Amino acid sequence: MGTRQIDKSRPFPYNLSGMKKSRLHVLHSRDQIAERVRCLGEQISRDYEGRFPLLVGILKGSFVFLADLMRHLDVPVEVDFVRLASYGASMESSKEVKLTKDLEIPVEGRDVLVVEDIVDSGRTLKELLGELAKRGPRSLKSCCLLDKRHRREVPLEIDYVGFVMDEGFVVGYGLDWAESYRHLPDICVVEPEEESPEESDAGQGVKP
Ligand code: PRP
Repeated sequence: MGTRQIDKSRPFPYNLSGMKKSRLHVLHSRDQIAERVRCLGEQISRDYEGRFPLLVGILKGSFVFLADLMRHLDVPVEVDFVRLASYGASMESSKEVKLTKDLEIPVEGRDVLVVEDIVDSGRTLKELLGELAKRGPRSLKSCCLLDKRHRREVPLEIDYVGFVMDEGFVVGYGLDWAESYRHLPDICVVEPEEESPEESDAGQGVKP
């Protein structure tokens, strides 16, 4: 689990037993995503012309974006995946991120492009880039579909960004809500449930 995980033991403004579809609002439609991914693919293809990059996806959320992005690349690529886990606080970004599933392909001497679905605090991507940098890649860049840069807690330069986004908890196109909704073709914002007056003292101030 990365840092967007939901701690079900804490008060949370969503009903985890089920969610009405009316509470999902499309932020980026499948057509908008497709167009943006196509543009990113063109840009990356130009930048890596004559190279043989290794695409590194961060599980789980990036698998949909990575699958689409790679099909817009006209340079040969290899693909591998890592998984990172965060320890400590739940909804909020914790301070410690560790690699729990390593790459199977060596990165030494390779042009490595890390592909991420969403960057929030930046801790997950920063940790991975730091680890990969130690392994002697020829080059090391990053690409994310959604950049919540106003939430950044660590300095981070991302080389390719799909969309910059503001507040809101998003699902779909690989992004989950308690492991659900990854399959949605659009990127949707989850609207918090309205509180009844009786519930307003329940400490439900956690913002996604
Ligand atoms: C998300 C996302 C990143 C991380 C970003 O993973 O895919 O890996 O959070 O957060 P950060 O910038 O604050 O470190 P998530 O926890 O949702 O796990 P998942 O990809 O398995 O759904």
